[in-house]
Amino acid sequence: MLFSINPQERKIFETIADCAREMGTTAYVIGGYVRDRLLGRPTKDIDVVCLGDGIKLAETLASKLSPRPKVVVYRRFGTAMLRWDGIELEFVGARRESYSPDSRKPNVEAGTLEDDQNRRDFTINALAVSLNEDDFGQIIDPFNGLAHLESKIIKTPLDPGQTFSDDPLRMLRAIRFANQLGFTIEPSTLQGIKQYKNRIHIISRERINTELEKILRTNKPSIGFKLLFDTGLLRLFLPELTALQGVEDRNGRAHKDNFYHTLEVLDNLCSKSDNIWLRWSALFHDIAKPLTKRFDEEHGWTFHGHEWKGANMIPGIFRSLRLPLDAKMEYVRKMVLLHLRPISLTKEEVTDSAVRRLLFDAGTDIDDLMMLCESDITTKNPRKMARYLEGYNYLKERMAEVSESDRLRLWQPPITGEIIMQTFDISPSKEVGLIKTAVREAILDGLIPNSYEAAFEYMVQEGAKIGLKTGNNAPLEK
Ligand code: CTP
Repeated sequence: MLFSINPQERKIFETIADCAREMGTTAYVIGGYVRDRLLGRPTKDIDVVCLGDGIKLAETLASKLSPRPKVVVYRRFGTAMLRWDGIELEFVGARRESYSPDSRKPNVEAGTLEDDQNRRDFTINALAVSLNEDDFGQIIDPFNGLAHLESKIIKTPLDPGQTFSDDPLRMLRAIRFANQLGFTIEPSTLQGIKQYKNRIHIISRERINTELEKILRTNKPSIGFKLLFDTGLLRLFLPELTALQGVEDRNGRAHKDNFYHTLEVLDNLCSKSDNIWLRWSALFHDIAKPLTKRFDEEHGWTFHGHEWKGANMIPGIFRSLRLPLDAKMEYVRKMVLLHLRPISLTKEEVTDSAVRRLLFDAGTDIDDLMMLCESDITTKNPRKMARYLEGYNYLKERMAEVSESDRLRLWQPPITGEIIMQTFDISPSKEVGLIKTAVREAILDGLIPNSYEAAFEYMVQEGAKIGLKTGNNAPLEK
């Protein structure tokens, strides 16, 4: 079958073909680019393999292109990369690779196109397009990759044991591709993942993460996570998540399966938001349920405190996955901590100050939190669903009313530590914190208005209570 080459590709492909001919070698476009173009997915990264020196081919090509692109050479990998006309081209010589059982570092030697195709992960990723005069544009498909694209199948070209042992990350890639492309993993390949899952231990957390994140970015990550669970892989790098699975029944009273519930929440959220950190939050929102589970004769199953215990688990999980320990982690921790607050505020008798506190605690992330909470409703009872949503709408109205008057989303109490120290002529100390908190709480409780004047006066009174007097440098009341 011929690859249908578009005009932009024709120019570059023909130039590569000329260069290869000059060098007395042959070149092929191979891998993900061919797959994605045949699937109609947008792609700009072209991998070219040649029977010989890939770096020299890249340099020869660059000399013929205008404007002449810079060639970035990775000698250690024997590859070279250049960018031209919005496309990224990577060049490598065809190779044979063999791996020793306990290392990711392959022994590499020059090989044929067939060797190169053999060492690839899946049949759909082993397709090559010829750039040679004799069969220019012909698709070379030794493993039925075209048929597998058609029937939506992920299958290793060789025995799964060999392909997965060569690079165990491929087990995650199989699941990620199945999720991303809506494909099915062929039975022996799936069996191979189950059998070789423990080999994932030699893969770095960073590489595992890249795949997990790609799964999380799909429209329906539950598909990927179910496969990760069923193959036994998930337990190996996220045991906290697999611990959520299972239903316990006591005297006919059962709780829901929190693993599948979590995946439902995650899918719900993914239909509302692309924010990857909110997606991680959905995945971890109930993470402490197994640790807080109790059975009580009166109330049945309870998970008291799972929100704060879960929030406390986030740094450890982020550390173990090598996720960033920065503001993004704080955001996830905050979402997990606050995910039950909105539901508790949907009742009519809730005070303005409780609503204000939520706005203060969630800050600019309040809309994200509300999205997470709405996604957390997984009841199959339409009447209950309507009631919960109505409750949230009511809360949103209340929040709009309250924040209209004092814009709490971006709110910072008007009295800073600096002002307190200057007013009472004191150095940083416990007292400064006490007064600052007292002023903030008074505003949140509605005891005093949210203005500088009122807060200043309140600060002076609070200071007096603990024996502080205003000093000579006290700033004037504005
Ligand atoms: N490949 C492989 N084994 C891996 C990674 C990659 O065999 N562990 C091969 C596949 O042939 C793949 C090609 O290298 O198509 C390019 O890899 P990469 O750019 O990582 O992936 P893509 O398949 O292009 O897909 P994506 O960009 O979605 O990761």
